[in-house]
Amino acid sequence: SPGVRYEAENAVISQGVVESNHAGFSGTGFVNSDNVAGAAVEFAFDLPSAGSHAFLIRYANGTTADRPFDVIVNGASTGTQNAPGSGAWTTWVSAGRTVPAVAGRNTVRLVATTAGGLPNIDYVEV
Ligand code: GCU
Ligand code: CA
Repeated sequence: SPGVRYEAENAVISQGVVESNHAGFSGTGFVNSDNVAGAAVEFAFDLPSAGSHAFLIRYANGTTADRPFDVIVNGASTGTQNAPGSGAWTTWVSAGRTVPAVAGRNTVRLVATTAGGLPNIDYVEV
């Protein structure tokens, strides 16, 4: 099914800000999290049916250090997504995952697990 895009600038941000100084993002900006473990962005999305859903996370990491984060769906961890360097802050890449979801309202929370914080987050697509 065609993905619906949820922009990070519309999500709930814990320890981070919306910025637009690195080109190539979708919408009006991206989230630059603080460089701390625990920095997070939480998206809400509605689905017509329960089950496994394909899920894309678009990010940029202009460093050479990994920026892993926990992918928490409806309060439960679905595992760690690594986000290795993408080459530049203007080079946006998508990581694909499959996540369990319920019919109706769901949340996905991306939580930095290392002191580098999150990569810059552009959007998630479900
Ligand atoms: C730079 C960059 C930010 C990025 C930050 C980081 O400051 O301009 O967009 O979020 O590095 O290392 O997290
Ligand atoms: Ca940052």
